[in-house]
Amino acid sequence: MSEKIAPADTCVLVTGGAGFIGSHTVVELLSGGYKVVVVDDLSNASRKVFDRIKTIVGDDAAANLTFYEADVNDRPALTKIFDEHHPDRVIHFAGFKAVGESVSKPIEYYSNNIGNTLTLVDVMREHGCKSIIFSSSATVYGDPDSLPLTEESPKKMATNPYGWTKWMIEQILTDLHTADPEWNVVLLRYFNPIGAHPSGLMGEDPKGIPNNLVPYVAQTAIGKRDAVHVFGNDYDTPDGTGVRDYIHVVDLATGHVAALAWMNGRQGVEIFNLGTGTGTSVLQIIEAFSKACGHEIPYVIEARRPGDVTANYADCSKARDLMGWEAKFNIEDMCRDSWNWQSHNPNGYEG
Ligand SMILES: NC(=O)c1ccc[n+]([C@@H]2O[C@H](COP(=O)([O-])OP(=O)(O)OC[C@H]3O[C@@H](n4cnc5c(N)ncnc54)[C@H](O)[C@@H]3O)[C@@H](O)[C@H]2O)c1
Repeated sequence: MSEKIAPADTCVLVTGGAGFIGSHTVVELLSGGYKVVVVDDLSNASRKVFDRIKTIVGDDAAANLTFYEADVNDRPALTKIFDEHHPDRVIHFAGFKAVGESVSKPIEYYSNNIGNTLTLVDVMREHGCKSIIFSSSATVYGDPDSLPLTEESPKKMATNPYGWTKWMIEQILTDLHTADPEWNVVLLRYFNPIGAHPSGLMGEDPKGIPNNLVPYVAQTAIGKRDAVHVFGNDYDTPDGTGVRDYIHVVDLATGHVAALAWMNGRQGVEIFNLGTGTGTSVLQIIEAFSKACGHEIPYVIEARRPGDVTANYADCSKARDLMGWEAKFNIEDMCRDSWNWQSHNPNGYEG
């Protein structure tokens, strides 16, 4: 059994905590009374997010936040941070996440995502910190045999290096626990995180052309892009477009706080799906976003993209039954908050 500690006495090291999901999780952790140390190299984030976090949580909670601009793969830097803060738990978000880019840059993806995880867990082990929550993905389920997906659904062959990194890191962390049962590993398989903080102060700020649907829809809504490209309308779904389980980023963030509470005092490896359990098609997203922004959003139908699955959505009853966590926001909330963020911050954190 790992030691049980109260939030106020728990130091959580958050890798990638300046990013989209990480920053929203940091807000929920600080609001929950945790001490937070963020390590982020800002390769896909802005340091301005920390001002926004401070505004949201207030000065008292923000006093419990420390930020280091460092690469998780930089062992001396990471060792120094562990020496200084002695984190009790780690939430590991840091990594590259663009599926398409991973196909053209496999070395960068394997070396950043897997390399930094190996450095991280080795430094954790050296410091006697054996509790980790990892950002995995529904991508490990591949093309599902049946829906909804439960944690028992089989993992399938990945179709790109990004997917393989998630697949392999899950295996690496599971093997760690086999070698040393004191490890306490939670693998969170996210479905499709969208939305933004309801304050309008934080959201997804993709660099370059967005890889994911909703940031693309948001940029089209604001006139930065001409039209949304819908890849395939001949799938076996009600309107022919792909169906995914979209989850509000704030729900995802509270899922991490629930996982921290659940893992407190335990050891083992546990997998949880984090989604809503509801599938929404691409055209339904465009329609919901049009309502949120008050005007039509142009779209064009393109050919299917290789590797895209027809539909996936989660069974989240395990997270509900064990951790007491459930998603609270619906698609309308997600589109409203995305639009609020996009329309108030057309250039993301850069103004
Ligand atoms: N957004 C999604 O759709 C989605 C879905 C499933 C899983 N995930 C996973 O969740 C995690 C967070 O995703 P996100 O959407 O917030 O992405 P993000 O790019 O916004 O956040 C990742 C953060 O990690 C940082 N980073 C990258 N490599 C680093 C390194 N070596 N050292 C230190 N910092 C580093 C980046 O600067 C960024 O701030 C990722 O592991 C991602 O693969 C995301």
